[in-house]
Amino acid sequence: TSKQVRPFITFVLGGPGSGKGTQCAKIAETFGFAHLSAGELLRKEISSGCENGEMILDIIKEGNIVPSEITINLIRKEIELSENRKILVDGFPRTNENRIAFESIIGVEPDLVIFFDCPEEEMVKRLLSRNQGRIDDNIETIKKRLEVFDKLNLPVINYYSSKGKLQKIKAVGTMEDIFEKVYPVFASLRFE
Ligand code: AP5
Repeated sequence: TSKQVRPFITFVLGGPGSGKGTQCAKIAETFGFAHLSAGELLRKEISSGCENGEMILDIIKEGNIVPSEITINLIRKEIELSENRKILVDGFPRTNENRIAFESIIGVEPDLVIFFDCPEEEMVKRLLSRNQGRIDDNIETIKKRLEVFDKLNLPVINYYSSKGKLQKIKAVGTMEDIFEKVYPVFASLRFE
């Protein structure tokens, strides 16, 4: 009988511009994880011209949160399609509602949760100087994204902290400095 391999799920959280995407790319490359970015999946939906695209674009332009059922469905599909059982989910869950829906629909809890803790002024500076700035990288939308992060995402981070699942990483310094702190977290993992 073949044994179904349960995915090893890591949630990667942090404010806008905290470096989630940058560090996930390095983790994926170094440790062989698949990298699923909620924001990227949503931007792909917009560019594919699907029926939800316009609604998603309006929400992202405002710095608001896309409805749970949309993001969960996109993530679920990607997890099902991925042959890689080691998965980084970048930028999700955004709210406690997201978290609870993921647990009930996907039916697993994350094995690990990383939080990139970065001062607000540093995040703003990075986003404003991003090459090929995104549609949501203007100061008005950035302020809104930060507000939404404090109000809705910090409670999720506090929840995982209370469960003893949170690895908090101070996300200041160069990308390499930060990856030096990320490295031991993943190097110490053992997979069956
Ligand atoms: P998303 O795409 O997830 O954006 P975000 O969370 O705002 O974060 P960013 O991607 O902007 O930043 P990051 O932390 O990945 O940093 P990065 O590595 O890029 O979400 C966008 C929108 O989609 C949301 O506002 C929401 O509307 C919607 N959405 C997403 N997920 C959702 C969900 N689950 N539910 C509902 N809605 C959802 O780095 C930023 C910049 O800084 C880059 O230019 C990078 O080169 C630079 N940089 C990185 N590290 C350093 C460093 N150490 N020093 C200097 N520069 C650095």
